[in-house]
Amino acid sequence: MRIKTFEQYQTAYQQSVEDPEGFWAEVAQEFQWKKPWKRVLDWNFTEPNVKWFEGGKLNITENALDRHLADKADQPAIIWEPNDPEDEAATITYRVLYDRVCRFANVLKKYGIQKGDRVCIYLPMVPELAIAVLACARIGAIHSVVFGGFSARSIADRINDAGCKMVITSDGAFRGAKVIPMKETVDDALEKCSTVQHVIVMTRTRTPISMLKGRDHWWEEEVKHVDANCPAEEMDAEDVLFILYTSGSTGKPKGVVHTCGGYMVYATYTFANVFQYEPGEIHFCTADIGWITGHSYIVYGPLCYGGTSLMFEGVPTWPDAGRFWQIVEKHKVDILYTAPTAIRSLMSFGLQYVKDHDLSSLKKLGSVGEPINEEAWHWFKHNIGKDRCALVDTWWQTETGGIMITSLAGLTPEKPTYAGLPLPGVQLMLVDENGQEIEGNDVSGNLCIKYPWPGMVRTTYGDHERCRQAYFSTYPGRYFTGDGCLRDEDGYYRITGRVDDVINVSGHRIGTAEVENAINMHLGVVESAVVGYPHGIKGQGIYAYIITETKPDDPEMFRKDIAATVTRVIGPIARPDKVQFVSGLPKTRSGKIMRRILRKVAEGDITNLGDTSTLLDPAIVDEIKDGAL
Ligand code: PRX
Repeated sequence: MRIKTFEQYQTAYQQSVEDPEGFWAEVAQEFQWKKPWKRVLDWNFTEPNVKWFEGGKLNITENALDRHLADKADQPAIIWEPNDPEDEAATITYRVLYDRVCRFANVLKKYGIQKGDRVCIYLPMVPELAIAVLACARIGAIHSVVFGGFSARSIADRINDAGCKMVITSDGAFRGAKVIPMKETVDDALEKCSTVQHVIVMTRTRTPISMLKGRDHWWEEEVKHVDANCPAEEMDAEDVLFILYTSGSTGKPKGVVHTCGGYMVYATYTFANVFQYEPGEIHFCTADIGWITGHSYIVYGPLCYGGTSLMFEGVPTWPDAGRFWQIVEKHKVDILYTAPTAIRSLMSFGLQYVKDHDLSSLKKLGSVGEPINEEAWHWFKHNIGKDRCALVDTWWQTETGGIMITSLAGLTPEKPTYAGLPLPGVQLMLVDENGQEIEGNDVSGNLCIKYPWPGMVRTTYGDHERCRQAYFSTYPGRYFTGDGCLRDEDGYYRITGRVDDVINVSGHRIGTAEVENAINMHLGVVESAVVGYPHGIKGQGIYAYIITETKPDDPEMFRKDIAATVTRVIGPIARPDKVQFVSGLPKTRSGKIMRRILRKVAEGDITNLGDTSTLLDPAIVDEIKDGAL
């Protein structure tokens, strides 16, 4: 499966387009299957229906764990760096990880979890998070990891949407200098959930928490009393492996569904090739396992490929802005995969935090989550990579399961701010507003994908129609990414950002409708409209226009109250950066908000607002312009 030269990439790409089934069958053969598949691919993008390796039987944990026991049992699978640099790091070998996963899988079974049951995982970045994920996969339970920064209400919505039977959490979480409640937040969530029968709680902060008899159980106690042996459940390639919720243009987050076979093949193939992973290398992906990047490039990709994955519990700026570099030096990290927002934030602290650390172990750098601006690209390449490390800018999505457009580290010529070229198996197309394909180079349009790849979303949990609507209806017969994109004269792709109502804040996808719903719940709010605007560190910030029943007496306090409501409803990541109080919104006669105008004003570009003649009340535009923040 490993591509070793740029020419090999070109050949592989060619082959993957001419004979996709043959191509992926060859890659899939490198994994351990319990039974071979009967059919490589069955698909249409109208329903949509996508099935890879149908009839094939496997368990992803046998690929991530069991098969490495013969020759890599004592190799570190996970290196864990705790929040506090004074605390001891942990090294978990493949043998130990295997043992801990099997034991915890037996705990799940003891509490009635069976194949197909949904389990919500709400944990900080501790090894137990990876263990819980793998334990679910071991017994065929479907994990739904919820990022530790989400509110009780968001957790409840996700638990209820998936009908989770169990929650796995911790007493609290350490995040920089803060201690954050976890179990308490879960307790609040569970007030609104009737499907959860048991909660397993691991001890991290030893914050006092309530433990309900019969429902709540301590992780550490439970694993003492179970068998160390847990046979892997036989899964069909198309059985669900996990659900991961993500925002779209509509109000409610979607449960993106990934399945066992295709996801495994794709996450591993992309991990091996994009990072050009060599045995023994230490791969440090700074994402949280609560997001897809962590699923694919902390847990499944590295482990299925027999690699060593470094997991970090804390934040990049605590105890100081040199924390990433200290970790790189301490653990002799080879590959560092992070987000532009982290790079920009660390850049702003200056080079004094970089210079005292030995970064000579680094070989490859990666960026993900949002467009990387030129300045951040060069800073990363020069000051961290010392101009000798490869830098890959990887474009992909929760729905794609793995990286789609990128350079291959050290093989593909790099172009700053360009994600680069599609990986083998990825057939891109740019389309115009009418869905017409835009051919040739030096063009831009909306990014679509015309052929299935093994890691793609199969459905949105419990609502297949929503999946069709969201991804396959804008341009019938194509998967629509929601991103704008340009293809330069060399055929290199550069992602220009979302073209739908999704904001990318610090690499996190936030639906404007979700934030509006939260704001509208606030006392005294009549209506609101939320747009993104360029933000120096976060990439995009959240700008909210709010109509209130009466003019706020203390606008500053009102803004803070609104932030509190949004934090309670969604979580702190969705808090608006700017709030402008307005008496009306620019609406067309049919009642549609002209977001284009709101975006322009938020961007500070008020000279060129375009045609406003179709507005119901054009005068409102002047008021909004005058009050712009
Ligand atoms: O807009 C694109 C942006 O992030 C979106 C996907 O977000 P999410 O599902 O949360 O996954 C993030 C991590 C894979 C995309 O639609 N995005 C992601 N990577 C890049 C990017 N934009 C530009 N360049 C990237 N490398």
